[in-house]
Amino acid sequence: MDRILVRGGPRLVGEVAVSGSKNATLALIAAAALAEGETILHNVPRLRDVDAMLELLRALGARADWHEEEGHAVRIDASSINRFEAPYELVRKMRASFLVLGPLLTRFGTARVSEPGGCAIGVRPVDQHLKGLTAMGGKVRLDHGYVEVTSSGLRGARIAFDLVTVNGTQNLMMAAALARGETILENAACEPEVVELAEALNAMGGSVRGAGGDRIVIRGVGSLRGIRHVVSGDRIEAGTLLAAAMVTLGDVRVTGIDTSMLESTLDKFREAGADVDIEATSVRVRADERPNAAGVVTAPFPGFPTDMQAQIMAVLSVATGSSLITEGVFENRFMHVPELQRMGANIVLSGRTARIEGVPRLMGAPVMATDLRASAGLIVAALAAEGESVVNRVYHIDRGYERIEEKLRGLGAEIRREG
Ligand code: EPZ
Repeated sequence: MDRILVRGGPRLVGEVAVSGSKNATLALIAAAALAEGETILHNVPRLRDVDAMLELLRALGARADWHEEEGHAVRIDASSINRFEAPYELVRKMRASFLVLGPLLTRFGTARVSEPGGCAIGVRPVDQHLKGLTAMGGKVRLDHGYVEVTSSGLRGARIAFDLVTVNGTQNLMMAAALARGETILENAACEPEVVELAEALNAMGGSVRGAGGDRIVIRGVGSLRGIRHVVSGDRIEAGTLLAAAMVTLGDVRVTGIDTSMLESTLDKFREAGADVDIEATSVRVRADERPNAAGVVTAPFPGFPTDMQAQIMAVLSVATGSSLITEGVFENRFMHVPELQRMGANIVLSGRTARIEGVPRLMGAPVMATDLRASAGLIVAALAAEGESVVNRVYHIDRGYERIEEKLRGLGAEIRREG
């Protein structure tokens, strides 16, 4: 069981390029299942979650592999899909597998996907996905832990989400892409990963308008073709690396990112006292004293991203004053709090709100990673803590961060992995 060891203290200084976006990649691999032909994705991060999604496409009969020549590219040919079931043992590992439901149903008229269980951050139901597919004429049946949907041909519908859901918006956009007629998604998610998927669907021959806003209009087409697409830089990895710069009073430039995807995060870094220089595809963050206290409420895009909540909490744990963080998206996303408290953080939880009294310095300690972003927050905290920290169950972090210890070591961190 891998562990990551960090000796806190060194200022992070230098430049680092982010990998491609995990969440954009997962949706784009699902979208490739819509195409009658080959899709090649470039700038794909080498992550366990990407391996899992490729394995799922292969289980459906598609060709789906890492590119034989280009290390960060995947090649998918969905013309050979001949199975329509996403098995429990794959979906259990990664709930984003549920994103094949829309593509399989709209292209083949049938799909059977294990219902993704809850995870460390919450129950995470899929009722909105199923509400939309039903509105489009899908016949939904729950069968021994599987969601089974059939249709004699999906038809366009007007679907108003009861709440903002990223993967729900993506699943229904893909289902609508080959449905008969026009689909309107109201109260749709505005995340950059939704916009990137819409751009890819349009490049495939689809017709998606309004992505990035809360009303998306999709006109179904007869078929979609494979494309070549370069995945955008990972906005959450960028935010995580910049949080590490802040908390170590460093000076770091992160490159390969569309900075318009990071505005609320960068605004919060500024509010906490960092110098933030924004260029088109890179951001430089410098800090030369302890952060100021700040208030954070996580919300759907363009609000402060829930995937950055643990990381900003690590920063505010050493702020000069009292901060409030409210988790507005998930009902149980404070699993990192007990671990931060073991490092000396002064945090009091009350429902979805955490009150953090900043302390001058955290103390290194052995800590346990519970989910992907919690482990990222613990590493950010460890980089500034006094002494050594050991982050256990590091497979969580490998799901979403490619070679995180190499990237941080390149900036001067004393960090290594122990197998
Ligand atoms: C995506 O998950 C991301 N994952 C998550 O990133 C991210 O935290 C989340 O969006 C919010 O930004 C991928 O894209 C693979 P939601 P998703 O549906 O789409 C509730 C990471 O660390 N809900 O927007 O599954 C749900 O319980 C991961 O990279 C319903 O009630 O999230 C949650 O409270 C973690 N019914 C809220 O909506 C539904 O049918 C938002 O969830 C769907 C969602």
